[in-house]
Amino acid sequence: MRTVVVEHPIVRTRLSVMRDQTSSNAEFRAALRELATLLVYEATRDLEVTDIDITTPVGPTTGTTLANPPLLVPVLRAGLGMAEAAFNLLPEAQMGFVGLARNEETHDPEAYMASLPPSLAGRSVLVLDPMLATGGSLVHCCGLLASRGASEIVVICALAAPEGVSRLAASGLAAAIYTASIDDGLNANAYIVPGLGDAGDRQFGPR
Ligand code: PRP
Ligand code: URA
Repeated sequence: MRTVVVEHPIVRTRLSVMRDQTSSNAEFRAALRELATLLVYEATRDLEVTDIDITTPVGPTTGTTLANPPLLVPVLRAGLGMAEAAFNLLPEAQMGFVGLARNEETHDPEAYMASLPPSLAGRSVLVLDPMLATGGSLVHCCGLLASRGASEIVVICALAAPEGVSRLAASGLAAAIYTASIDDGLNANAYIVPGLGDAGDRQFGPR
């Protein structure tokens, strides 16, 4: 699995706002939206394109269109905060949804929703989830996408723990992961350290 840590200074400033415990819910959401824009921009650098004939006010030229825009899949809840940013960059894309909630005792994901095309044969997918901690949630999500035939799965997350990166890589399900940081590790509650806390709660409030 290709693991890309996007080191851009603006990425680091947005991640710092998200890490800061004094940031409001609104500040956290704005920083995540901007960070997601930058990560998706990097992750789509090599998308296949098709030449098209266009005419400017001055004359004909060759333009570019995306040959096969990826399906966007935010993982609810926290991935919702990345969905609008991805859609703004890829307005021609389609979007599916996977709902997962981590069991606070076992730390295993519990699936409560999947709204996806029945077949993903030949389709590439961009999965959006701010946090890769134990990796249980993203392995579950990528497994679901692979079982429907997704051809290539790329994961975008704000923050990752080494444990989650190793688990996702070992699953063989994702071609690549783009993240702003690989942090030190997990604490006894399987939270990323230093991390940013609970990405869902920090956007939407506790559930
Ligand atoms: C968070 C996060 C990931 C998951 C990561 O979601 O958005 O989906 O935890 O943890 P893992 O790698 O150990 O599986 P959570 O289950 O807290 O639900 P939420 O987005 O509804 O808050
Ligand atoms: N989910 C989160 O939202 N934060 C963590 O640190 C781990 C899992």
